[in-house]
Amino acid sequence: MMISGSGAGPICEGIPDYSPTSENIASRERFSDDRFGVFIHWGVYSMLARGEWVMNNENIKYADYSMFPGGFYPSHFNAAEWVGAIKASGARYITITARHHDGFSMFGTEMSPYNIVDATPFGRDILKELAGECRKQGIMLNFYYSLLDWGRGDYPQGSSGKGLGKNPAEADYGSYLDFMCGQLRELLTGYGPVGCIWFDGDWDQIAKGKDGKAPEITFDWHYGRLYSLIHSVQSSCLVANNHHREPVPGEDVQIFERDVPGENSAGYSRTAFVSEALPLETCKTMNGSWGYDVSDRNYKSPAQLIRILVSTAGRNANLLLNIGPQPDGRIPAEALERLSAIGKWMSANGETIYGTRSTLLKPQKWGVVTHKEDKIFLHVMKYPDGGMIRLPFSLKAKSVTVYGSSVPVAFKRGKNSFTVEVPENADCSVDYIIQILK
Ligand code: GLC
Repeated sequence: MMISGSGAGPICEGIPDYSPTSENIASRERFSDDRFGVFIHWGVYSMLARGEWVMNNENIKYADYSMFPGGFYPSHFNAAEWVGAIKASGARYITITARHHDGFSMFGTEMSPYNIVDATPFGRDILKELAGECRKQGIMLNFYYSLLDWGRGDYPQGSSGKGLGKNPAEADYGSYLDFMCGQLRELLTGYGPVGCIWFDGDWDQIAKGKDGKAPEITFDWHYGRLYSLIHSVQSSCLVANNHHREPVPGEDVQIFERDVPGENSAGYSRTAFVSEALPLETCKTMNGSWGYDVSDRNYKSPAQLIRILVSTAGRNANLLLNIGPQPDGRIPAEALERLSAIGKWMSANGETIYGTRSTLLKPQKWGVVTHKEDKIFLHVMKYPDGGMIRLPFSLKAKSVTVYGSSVPVAFKRGKNSFTVEVPENADCSVDYIIQILK
């Protein structure tokens, strides 16, 4: 059955008349409250140590690539250690690649023998081990799931993987869609509660717009079917799609790749739209790569990462910070160091991030504002001009203090404003936090 879009007329995307269940709405709130998650890109590509796009970038045909799993034996993999290190970073959820673009499943799927249990000497279902540990240590597990596949013949050729020599006659999206639905059902029934299914790869089927025009979407992924399946099997599971476009009905999170919402400095976003109704999530790399790349030592410093987390919370969004474990199953030492530094900061300042929202004031040159219940937190990341922060609304504050202390901070109430005087000795090199108690 060939059921790709015909190009005739607009494609109805998502679930028409979608109305989220109460469990789903509760999950969205919980997701936003969590504010910080760790992304894990791990697969047989990690062995090649040149990132998760290596199959495409070096035109390694499936016949050759599919030999690699036979040598995959991550002898140091230890789910308890991974989850422990991630939990200690302050992250409240983990999103791991269940199957990336190379098409290799990192879980024991019945839908194809091309998976970690059946095709590697390691033979262990790492998702199952992680799911058990996450439950034990009290952290949510989410699954990244690639929509595109460089190995399977039935996945219709997209903009990537053109040098992989697939036979176009084998393309059959109907069969591929059945395969994905089968795998999603397995992921949602065999691994306990799943926080979110995080789709990626939509952009593979969008042609570049001609003459500067926006591209027309002609490929139909049948998201309605994929999303309905997820919502019906686990109604509290969220659906996210890294498609760089406006969310469609059936999706519960808006994702921004390598960018904080509202900025498009990485150039991936096809829309300036920022949802006010859905939770927002920004994903970023710790160095410059998603999958393990042995030559990428370009790690952001702990201070930079903390400031990214704060800036993201200050845009009302979660940060999903990536690590790329090594082929031996260990998390790189540089990543462990940074997770631990973030964790230290979070254990002292987490109250100003977890469970907060940021809707009072848009980001300013000096920093951002988060708030929760009767508290407003000014995250000062650059000493303000003249040392003054003027909030453009009136406030009846009970106290204004340096966060984590009872040291008072001078302020002035105006009719339509509230001005705080940042102490001259304020150290804004990471995040100087001022707490306003209403
Ligand atoms: C891009 C890349 C993919 C990576 C993802 C993470 O879509 O293609 O390799 O997994 O970003 O956001």
